[in-house]
Amino acid sequence: MKIIVTTPRLYLRELEHDDVEDLFEMDADPAVHRYIENKPVQTRDEISRVISMLKEQYRAFGIARWAVIDKENNECIGWAGLKYFNEPINNHCNIYELGYRFKQKHWGKGFATESAGAVLKYGFNILGLETIYAITHPDNDNSKRVLTKLGFEYKERFDYDGDPTDWFVLQKQNCTSCSPE
Ligand SMILES: CC(C)(COP(=O)(O)OP(=O)(O)OC[C@H]1O[C@@H](n2cnc3c(N)ncnc32)[C@H](O)[C@@H]1OP(=O)(O)O)[C@@H](O)C(=O)NCCC(=O)NCCS
Repeated sequence: MKIIVTTPRLYLRELEHDDVEDLFEMDADPAVHRYIENKPVQTRDEISRVISMLKEQYRAFGIARWAVIDKENNECIGWAGLKYFNEPINNHCNIYELGYRFKQKHWGKGFATESAGAVLKYGFNILGLETIYAITHPDNDNSKRVLTKLGFEYKERFDYDGDPTDWFVLQKQNCTSCSPE
């Protein structure tokens, strides 16, 4: 297992098939899926297929969503990371998009902001990106608050496969988690 980045309370690594139970606990919860298509998973096979797809993204692009692990007990509490879009989205192509998702019992502890901040630092300082994007459901206030704390700016609402979706942009110089340690 290779640790990619660490924060005071967490570390991030690639997702593995051993993470199925933790991701199933997270993704079977309707509250977690409320603003992401509203289709909680029904089976562990669906999770296994997602992990296989992420492993393919690690191989093809060198990056994808990473497991977020609580240092205290090594629990996989969710995921955070950059997805590389090589297909057009909102008239952009070849972009990196920040995403995160956590088990409901771990909301409200600052873990999303802490892990996503480390992901952004990696994107700007290690990958050398100048801009990172994010999208949310217009009513996903928790996610929007995370983005705002990280320095993202709301740009516009667009139609994403028939759903109204908010488009956020972060330039490197506005990244609140990227100052040198
Ligand atoms: C979106 C999501 C990741 C946000 O998680 P979250 O836990 O609300 O986000 P944060 O990490 O910012 O933590 C929230 C609160 O924890 C509080 N907190 C408690 N202890 C803390 C600590 N030690 N350090 C920092 N913050 C702490 C903060 O005050 C913060 O609240 P505030 O912004 O009002 O100040 C979560 O709701 C989720 O997983 N949702 C389902 C999936 C989803 O919608 N993903 C996004 C798709 S676009």
